[in-house]
Amino acid sequence: MKRVLSGIQPSGQLTLGNYIGAMQNFVKLQDTHECFFMVVDLHAITVPQEPAALREQSEAVAALFIAAGIDPAKASVFMQSHVPAHAELGWLFTTLAYMGELERMTQFKDKSSGKDSVGAGLFVYPTLMAADILLYNADLVPVGDDQKQHLELTRDLGHRFNARFGDYFTIPEPYIPKIGARIMSLDDASKKMSKSNPNPASYIALLDPPDVIRKKLSRATTDSGRDVIYNPAEKPEVSNLMSIYSHCSGLTLEEIQAKYEGQGYGAFKKDLAEHVVATLEPLQQRYREIRESGEIHAILKQGAERVAQVANKTVRDVKEKMGFLPAQ
Ligand code: TYM
Repeated sequence: MKRVLSGIQPSGQLTLGNYIGAMQNFVKLQDTHECFFMVVDLHAITVPQEPAALREQSEAVAALFIAAGIDPAKASVFMQSHVPAHAELGWLFTTLAYMGELERMTQFKDKSSGKDSVGAGLFVYPTLMAADILLYNADLVPVGDDQKQHLELTRDLGHRFNARFGDYFTIPEPYIPKIGARIMSLDDASKKMSKSNPNPASYIALLDPPDVIRKKLSRATTDSGRDVIYNPAEKPEVSNLMSIYSHCSGLTLEEIQAKYEGQGYGAFKKDLAEHVVATLEPLQQRYREIRESGEIHAILKQGAERVAQVANKTVRDVKEKMGFLPAQ
């Protein structure tokens, strides 16, 4: 069975972008692949996090995985920091990476631009991500479009290790949705929808109440035309809303286009809001049940125990190949 690995940072509210770009595929892949899904708390601290907020968000994201439909009997769900092998292999990979290739990462450039002091963790973020993936010799990595460059670097580091120390790592492939790989902001279709945007009207949070979702979508920016047509270059706002509609309704873009022909944006946006609410309401209900039951702790414990066996073996093998003296 092929292996799948992915992770989501527990920094702020998860959005519909995270859901469409990544989580929906996690749920889909768990039936046909051996899956590892983690909350990447070690990545979250590459920007300052308030300890109580980090703890709360970590539990929230883990619970959202389950609420979104990940079945812990099929997939391993765990916290990155519960498996120390991530940090250890991350360091080993940091020594394989070049400053130049890390400087070229657009996420690093975006997060560091205009700042006087930039954390070193932010700079080596991609080497830890490479470790996350290669630790499990994952074949496929379901992510949104913004992580493509990090995946490229992961592949380069895997090849580099194999060339220097002997063939060991599987070189992973990204698994990116055809539509919705980059869900854009509701107020500015040139920016991706992001949980770190200070304007909450720019994103739909997975835990937004139905009325907030309706209000945000009714106010979402559109062009001054009235045709519901998918054309990201000329109609980026409407095309973005159509991608969301398609994912939440199961209709194709063509079907959506035909349905609203000659009707303007009003009816389209109203129905869109109902499809998003119908997608998120059951998820929110399950989320509340999971949080109240406290079952997430046992799920995370079991997940970490399961995956640590794979991860620890990789670190042992890698250290041996690199020439570390074994502990007796
Ligand atoms: P993060 O936490 O920023 O986002 C989690 C996932 O959601 C996707 N995503 C989006 N997809 C479509 N449209 C959007 N607007 C949107 N915003 C976010 C992201 O592409 C991602 O798949 N570096 C990763 C976390 C990570 C990871 C890993 C991922 C750490 N280690 C190993 C895969 C494998 C990140 O920051 O994701």
